[in-house]
Amino acid sequence: MTASTTASTPATIRREDYTPPAFLVDTVELHFALHPTATRVRARLAMRRNGESHDLELDGEELMLLSASIDGVALPSYRVASLPSGGLRIEGVPDSFMLETLVEISPEANSELSGLYLSGGNYFTQCEAEGFRRITFFPDRPDVMSRYSVTIEAEKTACPVLLSNGNPAGGGELPDGRHWAKWEDPHPKPSYLFALVAGDLVAVRDSFTTRSGREVALAIYVRQGDEDACGHAMDSLKASMAWDETEYGLEYDLDVFNIAAVSDFNMGAMENKGLNVFNTKYILARPDTATDADYEGIETVVAHEYFHNWTGNRVTCRDWFQLSLKEGLTVFRDQHFSEFMGSAAVKRLANVRRLRAAQFPEDAGPMAHPVRPDSYVEINNFYTATVYQKGSEVVRMMRELIGPASFRKGMDLYIARHDNQAVTIEAFVGAMQDASGIDLSRFARWYAQAGTPEVTVSDSFDEATGRYTLSLTQSTPPTPGQPTKQPVPIPVAMGLLGPDGAALPLRLSGENAAEAPEERVLLLEEAKQDFVFEGLGTQRPVPSLLRGYSAPVKLHGLGLETLGFLAAKDSDPFVRWESAQQYATAEMLRLVAAYRAGQEPTLPDGLAGIFAAVLERAEQDPAFAAEALALPSEDFVAGQMRIADPEAIHLVRQALRRQLGTRFASRFAALHDSLADAGPYRTDGDSIGRRALRNAALTYLGRADAGDGLARARVQFAAGANMTDVLAALRVLVDSEDPAREDALAAFHASWRADPLVLDKWFTLQAVSTRPDTLAAVQALAKHPDFDLRNPNRVRSLVGAFAAGNPAQFHATSGEGYRFLAEMVIALDPVNAQVAARIVSPLGDWKRQSPDRAAIMRAELERILALPGLSKGTFEKVSKSLAA
Ligand code: TRP
Ligand code: ZN
Repeated sequence: MTASTTASTPATIRREDYTPPAFLVDTVELHFALHPTATRVRARLAMRRNGESHDLELDGEELMLLSASIDGVALPSYRVASLPSGGLRIEGVPDSFMLETLVEISPEANSELSGLYLSGGNYFTQCEAEGFRRITFFPDRPDVMSRYSVTIEAEKTACPVLLSNGNPAGGGELPDGRHWAKWEDPHPKPSYLFALVAGDLVAVRDSFTTRSGREVALAIYVRQGDEDACGHAMDSLKASMAWDETEYGLEYDLDVFNIAAVSDFNMGAMENKGLNVFNTKYILARPDTATDADYEGIETVVAHEYFHNWTGNRVTCRDWFQLSLKEGLTVFRDQHFSEFMGSAAVKRLANVRRLRAAQFPEDAGPMAHPVRPDSYVEINNFYTATVYQKGSEVVRMMRELIGPASFRKGMDLYIARHDNQAVTIEAFVGAMQDASGIDLSRFARWYAQAGTPEVTVSDSFDEATGRYTLSLTQSTPPTPGQPTKQPVPIPVAMGLLGPDGAALPLRLSGENAAEAPEERVLLLEEAKQDFVFEGLGTQRPVPSLLRGYSAPVKLHGLGLETLGFLAAKDSDPFVRWESAQQYATAEMLRLVAAYRAGQEPTLPDGLAGIFAAVLERAEQDPAFAAEALALPSEDFVAGQMRIADPEAIHLVRQALRRQLGTRFASRFAALHDSLADAGPYRTDGDSIGRRALRNAALTYLGRADAGDGLARARVQFAAGANMTDVLAALRVLVDSEDPAREDALAAFHASWRADPLVLDKWFTLQAVSTRPDTLAAVQALAKHPDFDLRNPNRVRSLVGAFAAGNPAQFHATSGEGYRFLAEMVIALDPVNAQVAARIVSPLGDWKRQSPDRAAIMRAELERILALPGLSKGTFEKVSKSLAA
């Protein structure tokens, strides 16, 4: 059954309508009697009036009310009105009282994976954002913070493990083979952080001693057989706990920290107080089952959820419009941690690439919204790259402007002021401003305006005086509901290079010559600003801008010659990588236009030169070289066109890959030979970088006209050294016409059919294949016995990977790709509306497609919209896409 189906148009919730809660809940006592189809939840809520009203309204969804009482007196049914939403209304309650309710729910019937549900026979909860109301009647909003104590009762053989938030507070045997356990969480929290896990799980244990001497028992709960795949997650957890102490002075605040892993999960992981629940994808890893990217994902997500303990849990959000207060800040913290753990520059490149792949299209599409949205229909639709990643970039810019020392002071102040409070984004910016003494009021615009700002550079140089003028302009394109934009404060970290690439002193007009730095951060705050540098001699300098990607903007105005120079000479790795990417993008756009005019694409000399230079220095920094050898994605190139041409872009990119592979075949072969892993598999940044470069070389060889790329792939696949190498090799085969292709796929399936996370990779490889018959293959895979609409990971691995990761096939002119996605959304919406609303996004991009494609996309959107009982989440996405 759908969580929130709707007959009429669903309501829009507006940020400006916020009002404080009418009632608060000081303490919550919950008692669960677990049963697959008839779980009983008794709730005792110590409530207190917080406003004028004496009428109590509680949220509720799909709950069967069995009884209710106030201060021990049963409420007659005429005093308890059910609301259309599924909630309750009780008129005329006292100023403070104890409300007790008993409800029955069916975890087995819960396919939405929100509230209390079953996965593989075990019980899990997911309450963010609004799942707690599917467990009991409650004012289910983050500004109601309460102390919880939870008793869980279940059959002992089915559920030997009984977990909730906080510290353990007792347990024992019960008649009829049942037992119980009690948990107490001393820290007040909003309902979205409640969690319960129960079932037949095993613990992998460790411990951590905080710097003030608190002994914390750590445990990761997994299904039997997965114990040997928890080491990396545990290491990541301990490293995160240590880093939060040294970087921010923040210690853990309970006696236990538990993580439970579940294979049916709507997102990556959830930061429930003291009991994080994780998608198995972000816990389980062994060298033979997980790729280097998986290892990196685990490190980041474990850190992310742990860091939420302070940024999210101790200081939480007043309302869901403030979501980036916890998510943007916590992504900033996990990215900073991952940079510390690995090669900082390469981690930064990867994060920028992800931002541009996921967030820029959002900012340019029908769902464009500010980091702090003004309205929503379904809050689950706003757990987006904008709120998370752009939100993180905004925090990063503030740090860039006020400096790391003031930023640290600002964090201390934020937490000292707001511990145990539910606050707004102003609380965070205010603390940073007060700690630094720097006016940050204009940062409000970064939170309020949607759209990616575009910065254009032009410059002039006076040889006679050695004066160099850098002119920067900014503008932000209109987005739905926001036709005009104001300038935002953009920190531009920069340097100037002499003709040999040497850094030049940066002396702005009026400054002292003695202390001119070689790098500085300009603040572009107006629509247009000139920055005048003095004393630069007689040769025109070259500007290196946005070093380290100091702001989430698009930069225009640098010519191919400048880009080529920066790619070769700049000291900043980000600018080197970025300049090469921009160079390649410009050339690809030119080749796409030429192809449309009937010209076959040929590898431009300049681009070949950039590759030659990268390859020459490849061993010095293999991880960086691997990033630099990746051509801009098809989507990234499409994002630069007013009307995309997915077919032409694909053709050009494939042609360049083939020609690069052919041109540099011997160098790629040498790299593939020399970078082979000696010794045991390790996941330090160095080892990961070497494998990345080696597999990039293999991939190019697999494309080359002649040579032994496919033979190498066959050997590497058969050697089965580790999943990173196996998958890279299999991918080369899957994208090819090699006769070994089918056997390799079958062998992989046979080896891994019992491991769902590995099987997901098998689906994804085929879904993103560059082969022309991929669409038909994907349609067939959706009927494969291992495909399962109820498992979000599996849906993402096939449908998500195809629609969002294979633009050339998804946008097939037949419209079959669109039809396929629409059918999947239609089938999934009644099962799991949250995931359905997420995977529908690529259909909303019709505005940037050719008219024939756009017409089919719109027709498919209309078909979804006409569905009776469509969830409000899918309704919101589809209707906004059609209206844009
Ligand atoms: N708060 C979680 C995080 O970012 C993500 C989250 C939000 C989530 N809603 C969810 C996870 C629903 C699973 C299901 O860490
Ligand atoms: Zn988060």
